[in-house]
Amino acid sequence: MSSKLENKVIIVTGGGSGIGRAAALCFSREGAKVSICDVDVKGGEETARIAEESGGEAIFITCDVSKGRDVKLMVDAAVDSYDHLDCAFNNAGIEGANVFTTEYPEDTWDRVIDVNLTGVYLCMKYEIPAMLAHGGGSIVNNASTFGVIGFPGASAYVAAKHGVLGLTKVAAIEYATKGVRINAVCPGFIDTPMLEREGTSTNPETRKHMEDLHPMKRLGRPEEVAQAVAWLFSDAASFVTGSAMLVDGGYVAQ
Ligand code: NAI
Repeated sequence: MSSKLENKVIIVTGGGSGIGRAAALCFSREGAKVSICDVDVKGGEETARIAEESGGEAIFITCDVSKGRDVKLMVDAAVDSYDHLDCAFNNAGIEGANVFTTEYPEDTWDRVIDVNLTGVYLCMKYEIPAMLAHGGGSIVNNASTFGVIGFPGASAYVAAKHGVLGLTKVAAIEYATKGVRINAVCPGFIDTPMLEREGTSTNPETRKHMEDLHPMKRLGRPEEVAQAVAWLFSDAASFVTGSAMLVDGGYVAQ
C-alpha cells in the first residue's frame, strides 16, 4: 500500500531544526521528495543527510525567507530538482524579544514581522504559481496558538502569527477553485530548540510552568505537529482549506 505522501514534492522552510526537521523527516518517511530550506546551513544539511541515510530523497537550499530573491531561487531550485511542487510547509520562524510592548525594540519588531509574517507571504507568492503550473497543491503555514490568543511579552510574535492566520484565509479563498488548498497549524508549546532558548532545558520551573499551561500537562513533540501537517497535505483533507488546526494539548480550549 502506498503511503499518503508517496512521491509528493514538498518544501519545508526552517527545516534545519525543531518542528521543521521533524516535519521534513516525517514527510520523507512517507515517501515524499523534500526540499529543505533554512538560513542555518549546518542544520539544514544535517536534516537532508538524516533523510537520505534513512532511504529518503532530500536536498538542502540556503534561503532567508524574509528575502524575496532568496525565496524565488529556493522555489525554483525545488522545482528544478524534482520537476514540480506539490506541497509546502511554511514553518521558518523566530521568537523575538520577551518584553512588554512599550519596551519592545523596534529592530526586533521589524525582524520578527519580516521572518514570521512577510516570510510566509513571500513563500506563498512563489509557491502558488509553481503549484498552479502542475494542477494544484497544498500549503500549510505554521502559525501558533499565539495566532489565536495573546501572550504578554510577545507583541511582535503574536501580531505576526495572527497575521499568518489572516493571510492563510485570504489565500485559501483566492485559490479555492484552482486546486490549491491552504491551511495553518497552531501548535501549543512544542519541545524544540526555540523553547530551550526560552529556558525549558535550563530551568525546570520554566518547563513545568509551560507544561501546566496545557490541559494535557506536557509540551508537544515536534512529530505531533508534523503528523497534523502530513494529514493536511494528504488527499484525506481534500475538503479542508482556510482552516487553523490547533495542535495544542487543549491550550486554547480553556
Ligand atoms: P527552531 O528555532 O527549533 O527552528 C526554526 C528554524 O527556522 C531554524 O532552523 C532556523 O534557522 C530557521 N529560520 C529562522 N529564521 C529563518 C529565516 N529567515 N529563513 C529561513 N529559515 C529561518 O524553532 P521551532 O520551535 O521548530 O519553530 C518552528 C516554527 O514553529 C516557528 O514558526 C515557530 O514560531 C512555530 N511555533 C513553535 C512553537 C514552539 O513552542 N516551539 C509553538 C508554536 C509555533
